Amino acid sequence: MLIRDFQLVDTDGIVEILKLNSQYGFPEVDGSEAMKRVKACSAAVFLVCEVEGKVVGVVRGNYDGSRAIIHQLSVHPAYQRRGIGTALVKEIVKRFRQMGAPTVSATVIEEGLPFWQKIGFRKTKVFLMGNW
Ligand SMILES: CC(C)(COP(=O)(O)OP(=O)(O)OC[C@H]1O[C@@H](n2cnc3c(N)ncnc32)[C@H](O)[C@@H]1OP(=O)(O)O)[C@@H](O)C(=O)NCCC(=O)NCCS
Repeated sequence: MLIRDFQLVDTDGIVEILKLNSQYGFPEVDGSEAMKRVKACSAAVFLVCEVEGKVVGVVRGNYDGSRAIIHQLSVHPAYQRRGIGTALVKEIVKRFRQMGAPTVSATVIEEGLPFWQKIGFRKTKVFLMGNW
């Protein structure tokens, strides 16, 4: 398993994973053009996990000098429960710490709670509000 920075060649593999996990509701936010913009953004950390040359997981988030927030995590269904999600979060947390982030938070859906709690994140009273 290799955790590395996102490259443009990973785009289609990531879209496939997001679709399989029903996380591709907004192509404007998660599609190929958005991925290009995230790659160019100095506040963003955008990582993938590769197994035998295939992209099987993705994590991304940003640190703006105050808070670091992970806002996307997805592992291909055929590769779940092999430690890939844990490895992706560990690496992005390490990157944020190296950038100077004092804390790291994550936006989480209900189904993801057991995973996040298992890896040491605790539920807070803050919730996400949208305007779209
Ligand atoms: C949530 C997700 C990222 C976890 O990735 P993963 O690679 O399967 O996670 P790991 O193998 O590192 O799991 C670590 C531990 O978390 C817990 N865990 C992971 N998935 C779980 C699940 N579906 N139900 C209950 N516990 C779970 C387990 O304790 C697991 O350890 P174990 O396999 O030894 O029991 C992955 O299931 C996924 O992409 N799901 C669909 C999209 C999603 O929900 N993303 C998160 C948005 S908040």
